[in-house]
Amino acid sequence: MLQRVSTGIPKLDKILGGGLIQGRTYLVAGETGAGKTILALQFLREGLSRNEPCVYVSLDERVGNVLSGVETLGWNFWPYINSGLFYPFEIRLEAAEVRKYGKESKAFIEAIRRVTRGGPISRIVLDPVSALATGAKEEFYVREYLREIINYLEEKCNATTLLITDIPTGSTRLSRFGYEEFLASGVIVMSITRLDGRLVRTLYVRKMRWSQMDPTIYTFDIRSGAGIVIKQPIDSLIGKTTTPEVETEDVEDNEASPS
Ligand SMILES: Nc1ncnc2c1ncn2[C@@H]1O[C@H](COP(=O)(O)OP(=O)(O)OP(=O)(O)O)[C@@H](O)[C@H]1O
Ligand SMILES: [Mg+2]
Repeated sequence: MLQRVSTGIPKLDKILGGGLIQGRTYLVAGETGAGKTILALQFLREGLSRNEPCVYVSLDERVGNVLSGVETLGWNFWPYINSGLFYPFEIRLEAAEVRKYGKESKAFIEAIRRVTRGGPISRIVLDPVSALATGAKEEFYVREYLREIINYLEEKCNATTLLITDIPTGSTRLSRFGYEEFLASGVIVMSITRLDGRLVRTLYVRKMRWSQMDPTIYTFDIRSGAGIVIKQPIDSLIGKTTTPEVETEDVEDNEASPS
């Protein structure tokens, strides 16, 4: 029986067919500002609230900025950091390093091991993996590098992993480089769409191996405390004059979760 892991967003767990599969790797893809980092931290908060050791690796933004940024949502990660359950840190890699170390390199994995002192990891987020490949000319090295990291996290740690990847605004691609989605067991796509003269946030699951997923495109809000709150399908808004307050009963379901 496959063990399921809650994303911290109850409605998303339903869309995924019961949650993420424990120990697998998933891609969260979306344009800048789509809400990827917030979704990822909501996933980690859920784990931390269940006493699971969690790791957040920031690959471009200063990790301190991320942690102080989410305080605007009323989320405080410091008690978990102080108690040794949460390990947020940043790694900055030069394209040349990725190339130089290539497949043989264990530098990235060793950095994770060093930070966690070799202890167990239940959930991990790499945000964004696309930064690993910035400027790297030879795709082969980056793909193998990423594959090696994923193998380590899945086989040695048995961690459930979210790889965050940014996609160019307006693009129909699922990932920056086109191979991240093949390495992942599932793909969640987040976007911002123009509808009736306003912008709405949307989210859908593009792929979910071994699960009966819901392929509907949903709208969502980002709210203080609750974070990502999934609302009605975007189809139900098309052609209607709507206000952001119009919601489905699933919203209550979502807000009932600990925040
Ligand atoms: N406290 C808050 N309350 C409501 N909405 C917020 C709050 N903080 C941030 N947001 C919304 O979340 C968006 C950013 O979300 P997030 O940082 O998760 O995006 P991202 O997809 O990771 O972007 P990037 O690719 O640039 O890293 C902001 O543009 C803003 O609209
Ligand atoms: Mg981000």
